[in-house]
Amino acid sequence: MSVSALEFTRKLSAHPKSAQERAAILADPGFGNHFTDHTAVVDYRAGESGEGSWQEARIEPYGPIPMDPAAAVLHYGQEIFEGLKAYRHADGSIVTFRPEANAARLNASARRLALPELPEELFLESLRQLVDVDRDWVPTGDGEALYLRPFMIATEAFLGVRPAREVSYRVIASPAGNYFGGELKPVSIWLSTKYARAGRGGTGEAKCGGNYAASLIAQMEGEAHGCKQVLFLDEANDNAVEELGGMNVFFVFKDGRLVTPALSGTILHGVTRSSVLQLGRDRGLDVQERKITLNEWRDGVASGDITEVFACGTAAVITPIGELKSEDFTVGSPDAAAGEVTMSIREQLLGIQTGTVEDTHGWLTRLA
Ligand code: COI
Repeated sequence: MSVSALEFTRKLSAHPKSAQERAAILADPGFGNHFTDHTAVVDYRAGESGEGSWQEARIEPYGPIPMDPAAAVLHYGQEIFEGLKAYRHADGSIVTFRPEANAARLNASARRLALPELPEELFLESLRQLVDVDRDWVPTGDGEALYLRPFMIATEAFLGVRPAREVSYRVIASPAGNYFGGELKPVSIWLSTKYARAGRGGTGEAKCGGNYAASLIAQMEGEAHGCKQVLFLDEANDNAVEELGGMNVFFVFKDGRLVTPALSGTILHGVTRSSVLQLGRDRGLDVQERKITLNEWRDGVASGDITEVFACGTAAVITPIGELKSEDFTVGSPDAAAGEVTMSIREQLLGIQTGTVEDTHGWLTRLA
């Protein structure tokens, strides 16, 4: 489908935030607290024979979604989402980072959740349209960006359990600073031993709301122990490290190895994860995607072989992990300083995204 075959119409907000209100929000955006004045929407309807079409692409004022209480998403959780960021460069242009990777992952998630795939060009155009109309909302402070949240929901009013024939794809945007709030500093994470996030053949690889809902009880347990995220293991596989509730995890070894758990079917294919792997290769690190167990983590930190651990994701960017806590033991320290390799990869990644470091991999796409 070409986008010219599906032009976006625009209905602008009658009550956009004033320049003053916006400036107050952009001065300290936090994460996920504030939303721009508009939203992008494209609806899908299945045809008689099954094959459907995307229709009525539009920009609308940001606001509640009118939905039937029987909409399938409200009952069976047929929902997927993405996360990517828009950055304002010094020349005033607004760019995003590897959006084709998000488009591909959205469609991989759509296949797993029996939702319709969205043409990549329509995905990109929805971002261009929204960022164009809300261009004044992109913050420019260190580590800040406009977080874009595309999502797809089953809107058909029907209580039988089958893939919905009516679906809505939407994009909202939210000015964002540090995901964990305040200044960047090493975080403590909690080891979940009671709960799993994903299992073989499940939806762990898909970016669907259900995976995040499943992580919340463990996240609450972690918070009660002063931790910001929770780590999930694959108990059936020698306690192999999987991922955190909302981000991937990396280990820096003193001999120059950079290790992250291999994609095993239960781990999210992080766009930041794959970018860090590339940046690690570029700087001559011995990059390994492989099984890494909890024991290797504990022993490696104890012996000094593992020198740094960090979390990464679109929202988290790259965040140093100071300690891993569990009911029985602690690895590392809450007062650990941020690691050198961690911070250097973070600076390089943010530099590419914000236009101060050369984009040698062609990762940037101009949106406005
Ligand atoms: C992202 O990093 O974009 C995510 O969707 C993760 C979530 C914890 C905000």
